[in-house]
Amino acid sequence: MKKELVTLTINGEEKTFAAAPNTLLLNALRDELNLTGTKQGCDDGDCGACTVLVDDLPVLSCMIIAASVDRHRVMTIEGLAKDGKLDRVQQSFWTEGGMQCGFCTPGMILSSYALLKRNPNPSEHEIRDALSNNLCRCTGYTKIVTAVERAASFKEFTGK
Ligand code: FES
Ligand code: FES
Repeated sequence: MKKELVTLTINGEEKTFAAAPNTLLLNALRDELNLTGTKQGCDDGDCGACTVLVDDLPVLSCMIIAASVDRHRVMTIEGLAKDGKLDRVQQSFWTEGGMQCGFCTPGMILSSYALLKRNPNPSEHEIRDALSNNLCRCTGYTKIVTAVERAASFKEFTGK
């Protein structure tokens, strides 16, 4: 199948790569751009492990064609830490033990990050609702919700 060039702004940097018309964003990220923090789970839109942000909104990268987001902004888990410091959501997941095997964690963190960007002070119900497309087989969700509440309480994350 003939490949076409696709240009994305990934984690603040413009990247161009060749993709077949049926290449999924998930595979482009992992295989073309070596951004393997985005996890491949069910491949069927059910688990949320492949969640990334496109123009600040969570999307399931296993369900969209890479070329369909040509010229858009994509954020993956690799784009969150700045200057060696974890983002407040990453730090809160770490502090609260909001992960066990970690497979769901990149998607959970990006969905949480997007939630806090549009709603800085979410209720527990709003957190659970925002994470309803992200499945976790390990934690039972309580510590994940606590981690998001903790992240929301940071005015500015100091790295301490
Ligand atoms: S791998 Fe995309 S939703 Fe499961
Ligand atoms: S920490 Fe293992 S699936 Fe969520």
